[in-house]
Amino acid sequence: MRFSGKTVVITGAASGIGLESTRLFASEGATVFAADINDEAGKLLEAEIKGDVRYQHCDVCSTEQIKALMDRAAEETGGIDVVFNNAGAGGAREKIFEIEPADWDRTMDLLLRSVAFGIRYAVPHMQDRKGASIVNVSSVAAVGPGYSPTAYAVAKAGVLHLTKMAAADLAQFGIRVNAIQPGFINTNIFTSSLEIPDEAKEMAKGVIAQMSSNAQPVQRGGQPRDIAEACAYLASEAAGFVTGTSLIVDGGITIGPRESWDPEAPGAFEALIQMEEAAKQAAGE
Ligand code: NAI
Repeated sequence: MRFSGKTVVITGAASGIGLESTRLFASEGATVFAADINDEAGKLLEAEIKGDVRYQHCDVCSTEQIKALMDRAAEETGGIDVVFNNAGAGGAREKIFEIEPADWDRTMDLLLRSVAFGIRYAVPHMQDRKGASIVNVSSVAAVGPGYSPTAYAVAKAGVLHLTKMAAADLAQFGIRVNAIQPGFINTNIFTSSLEIPDEAKEMAKGVIAQMSSNAQPVQRGGQPRDIAEACAYLASEAAGFVTGTSLIVDGGITIGPRESWDPEAPGAFEALIQMEEAAKQAAGE
């Protein structure tokens, strides 16, 4: 019961990482303010999850709604101990040479501005809480190309820097701020924006589940629980000396190119050795 008596605010709580984190914090004694735009799923949360879970409609693109969420949590419980800025989606898919300004702005609002104001409006309610902690969701996409569309990757890289700046700004209040960089986690994020019929979506989910199981050195798919556990650690007293940093939770996907860890995918070096062996055999050695 690491979070007994604590107030925790989680955005994007109706699905995937946010949903599993809501379950975990509630199971460890927290009062969880679970925010999302999916009101149907959000209302189900309150009924289905054991513990004190209170759903609030909050579109994180609206600073008014973020403020209302934080104000409600503080009003009902006296303050906020943990904020998990998690809500998100894939954002604009276009490459930099074709993206439109409105799509760029929409993606930044959803993935970066939302985190800035999730911090901004929570802080007045966190300043006198001992052990207060903010956890922001970035992504392995922040380390470089190859993991997501451009605008998403840039926003997630911004979340890393925002995390450091906020950690510096908020140290004086005893508030720690950290980020998590999930790898390939098996959630609805990959299919939710697809404009295809429901049956096709279900099939796509199956394909994603299969892909996620062998996309990285750890030979299983990443699960929302993997990220929820990382969030609980960063939010807990065990991480009391940890601030301004980011925890990569990716099954090793960022370790290096596939040939560095997959014996079935030999790289250029292995190809040279094979050539050498073939040459030796041809020379009768
Ligand atoms: P998900 O699609 O399962 O859940 C996202 C939740 O956010 C949904 O409940 C959705 O309704 C909510 N949401 C979307 N737009 C919102 C808005 N404007 N306001 C409030 N809520 C909104 O996706 P998942 O994977 O759980 O994503 C959570 C976070 O993790 C996102 O920030 C995502 O970018 C990040 N992430 C996910 C990875 C993955 O492989 N699944 C990898 C790296 C980062």
